[in-house]
Amino acid sequence: MSANVAPGVAARPTSYSSAQIMLHWVMAAMIVFQVVMGENIGPAWLAFRDGTTPAEADLFAANVHVAVGMGVFALAVIRIFLRVTHGAPPLPAGQSRLQTTIAHAVHAILYLVIVAMPISGAIAWFGGVEIAGTVHHFAKPVIVIAVALHVVGALVQHFVKKTDVLRRMIRPERHAA
Ligand code: HEM
Ligand code: HEM
Repeated sequence: MSANVAPGVAARPTSYSSAQIMLHWVMAAMIVFQVVMGENIGPAWLAFRDGTTPAEADLFAANVHVAVGMGVFALAVIRIFLRVTHGAPPLPAGQSRLQTTIAHAVHAILYLVIVAMPISGAIAWFGGVEIAGTVHHFAKPVIVIAVALHVVGALVQHFVKKTDVLRRMIRPERHAA
């Protein structure tokens, strides 16, 4: 409940580290790629499900989706470790409770996406579990809405509220209040 730092826990950093920033943008590009190109795995997925052999190009497209998705999972593990050990700067002062709640909820959904999407995809692809593929499939609109809210939030912070929220996800140095 309290905003105080618990004994033994490091104070919140004033900025994200370079590694956190790099991971954020590399993973953002990977997620956009996965969502935009996601349907390319469809033909190979249907072929496996129906017990037929997919065309070589379809299998290649599927392998790209699987490899990039597994890469997201590997980077997510590193990212969550850094989030726990380094922490994150506090949200700007003077935000409404509603704004803070939305920002935190969207971040939680995005963390869920980078962990649960590779896992559900892998269970579907390697385990042939169709229900996991269905969950994976229906997650797409949720991801699109969460990323859209996230991007609008970042742009409003930068251009309307003129806070350093976007800048601190671009450059690691300390920013004056
Ligand atoms: C962050 C990582 C991932 C994202 C954002 C993602 C996103 C997507 C999207 C948008 C689709 C197309 C859904 C549709 O409109 O039909 C899809 C399909 C699929 N993906 Fe992924 N994916 C990820 C990782 C993976 C991984 C690691 C695997 C396998 C190891 C995988 C396996 C599949 C399969 C089998 C389908 C077809 C499922 C179906 O349409 O029913 N995905 N993915
Ligand atoms: C597309 C996939 C994306 C994912 C999965 C993603 C994920 C995340 C997550 C989980 C955080 C919270 C970090 C933390 O404090 O623990 C975050 C922060 C942030 N993201 Fe993204 N992001 C994405 C795209 C973008 C884009 C396109 C922009 C730019 C408009 C952006 C701008 C930011 C900013 C400015 C922050 C820092 C927020 C703050 O310091 O309070 N993100 N992102």
